[in-house]
Amino acid sequence: MLYCVKRETIFWEEGCDDAVWGREWWRGGESIGYTGAMIQAISQPESIPEALGSQAVVSVFGLTKRFGERLVVNNISFDIQRGQCVGFLGPNGAGKTTCINMLLGLVEKSAGKIRIFDLEAPRFHREIKARIGVVPQADSLDPDLSVEENLHTYAGYFRIPRRIARARVEELLHFFALHNRREEIIEHLSGGQRRRLLLARALINEPELLILDEPTIGLDPQARHLIWERLAILQARGTTMLLTSHYLEEVSRLSQQVLILDHGQVVVQGEPQQLITDLVGLEVFEVDGTPSELDALEVSFRQCNATQERVGDKLYVYAKEDCSRLVKVVGTSGNWIRRPANLEDLFIQLTGRSLRES
Ligand SMILES: Nc1ncnc2c1ncn2[C@@H]1O[C@H](COP(=O)(O)OP(=O)(O)OP(=O)(O)O)[C@@H](O)[C@H]1O
Ligand SMILES: [Mg+2]
Repeated sequence: MLYCVKRETIFWEEGCDDAVWGREWWRGGESIGYTGAMIQAISQPESIPEALGSQAVVSVFGLTKRFGERLVVNNISFDIQRGQCVGFLGPNGAGKTTCINMLLGLVEKSAGKIRIFDLEAPRFHREIKARIGVVPQADSLDPDLSVEENLHTYAGYFRIPRRIARARVEELLHFFALHNRREEIIEHLSGGQRRRLLLARALINEPELLILDEPTIGLDPQARHLIWERLAILQARGTTMLLTSHYLEEVSRLSQQVLILDHGQVVVQGEPQQLITDLVGLEVFEVDGTPSELDALEVSFRQCNATQERVGDKLYVYAKEDCSRLVKVVGTSGNWIRRPANLEDLFIQLTGRSLRES
């Protein structure tokens, strides 16, 4: 007997397997039921541990997008649990924005299923959108309106009563340090102020889910820090987030999960520090030197559990154990550093060093 899941209902009938979506739990060789965003009913709820039945805010299954002949998103699946920040990473052109646009119903999917707040997308697009905040990759502020008017207009789309909207706008202007520019028209704002306003606008409906496509793109360190600090506060308050960014250091600080896409496919998914330790190692030595110096170092590092990579005049050693005993050898080279392995190392290892879209 197979359990088959269709929309909010579980049907079980002989031979029905194509509609199953969610997680199927087995015990003692026997299926005891399903969990997942789309599952309302569970065949034997009392036998499923509560922790395993946690609800996903977003569930994507087999998502695929073709633009003509080009396969841009290729059968990707992931969940975002309530309160989690998921770093959605990948080289330029990997398909991140296209995925986000499919979640938002802005681009039609070629195949797959999307559930957000346990509602099927894009079918329940309006209901879903009312509970989401979005910072798009491209600036979409209304250039003819002032800072404050942009926020009020957006509040109007969500039919937020005037009195509540006024209080929220005030709070958001202060939260994003825009209160002194409230009457400025958009074209007089700096890039950093525009991104902050986009974030403020995304929060006007007090969203349960925040989708951020490059929230700090092109900003100076001060503006970036302010935004990352505000995002950390939102995260601590329990906002669920899907975050795309090429600032990997910040992503690794904020995200409980990362998902790396390349050529439209998920190459890895998991807890960032765990992935770094498992796939890259503990620490990295970066050494500049002549080819013969680097050759000699490569031989020395074979005594340690490490992988090595030569890029031009540089040797990268990704140490999977404490290689302190080799510091003396490295010390004879001119230029070298020793640092903890990070998300950028993982990203480069999994997606390579070649430039995309060249
Ligand atoms: N409307 C479209 N028609 C045709 N191709 C498109 C369209 N939109 C996106 N693409 C292509 O899909 C691929 C993925 O683009 P997408 O914008 O999703 O990448 P991304 O991962 O967001 O990249 P970036 O980091 O540069 O923002 C690219 O090759 C892009 O040229
Ligand atoms: Mg993009």
